[in-house]
Amino acid sequence: MIPNILVSPDSGSWADFAADVIGRTIDVAITNRGVCQVMLTGGKTAERLYEHCSKTSVLPLKGVRFMFGDERCVPLDHSESNYALVMKTLLAKGVPSGCSILRMEAENPDREAAAKAYEKLIPEKIDVLLLGMGEDGHIASLFPHSSVLQENKRKVVPVTGPKPTPERMTITPGVIACAGSIFVLATGAEKGKVLNEALQSAEDFLSLPIRLALGGTWLLDNEAEAQILNYSKINRA
Ligand code: 6PG
Repeated sequence: MIPNILVSPDSGSWADFAADVIGRTIDVAITNRGVCQVMLTGGKTAERLYEHCSKTSVLPLKGVRFMFGDERCVPLDHSESNYALVMKTLLAKGVPSGCSILRMEAENPDREAAAKAYEKLIPEKIDVLLLGMGEDGHIASLFPHSSVLQENKRKVVPVTGPKPTPERMTITPGVIACAGSIFVLATGAEKGKVLNEALQSAEDFLSLPIRLALGGTWLLDNEAEAQILNYSKINRA
């Protein structure tokens, strides 16, 4: 599989560009089926997108079922919480009528029970899956060489990662594989280098979990794109 790489004209317009692309996909799902399951990610890149969407109300927000691809094991009002991030940015004005949000209760001391409960609530197929990417190539809380990358039964599991707030819950590769539209959110030269390396081989997702998203659409800024060498499927906005 090879990704569809879309590039914003410059890094300043990346959030507006990404919101427009994602918003169109959500729009089509809602027009066709009246509902769109949108799985959100954490991280600063996503935060930039969420803040832009909140300020510009560019996303069609009727009929969206929001949920999370991962969460840190912290209270829901903690600064490290992905839920808190979304509620102070994308949904700062509250959950719009006709929408819903499904929080990962990762603060539950019984993380196994919380993961099992959450995986029962998420659909077989997520319509729109947003994924930020770390500079180590991780997505959601699927970190390089984690045993969770080979989980093929569970959809959501507890995990201990190398990044601050090590204790987390995350979707597993099967959820990514079943997603309808995957959008990778990545900006800057360092992430561009990681993406370029990921493109060199479709195989080894254990060392670069971002390879699980090779079938998706990568929403990059021009700095990230400049690091992608010898790749033809790049569309510049
Ligand atoms: C998380 C995210 C994680 C994030 C990447 C990129 O909960 O931390 O799910 O996968 O998207 O680490 O984060 P930045 O955009 O801050 O680089």
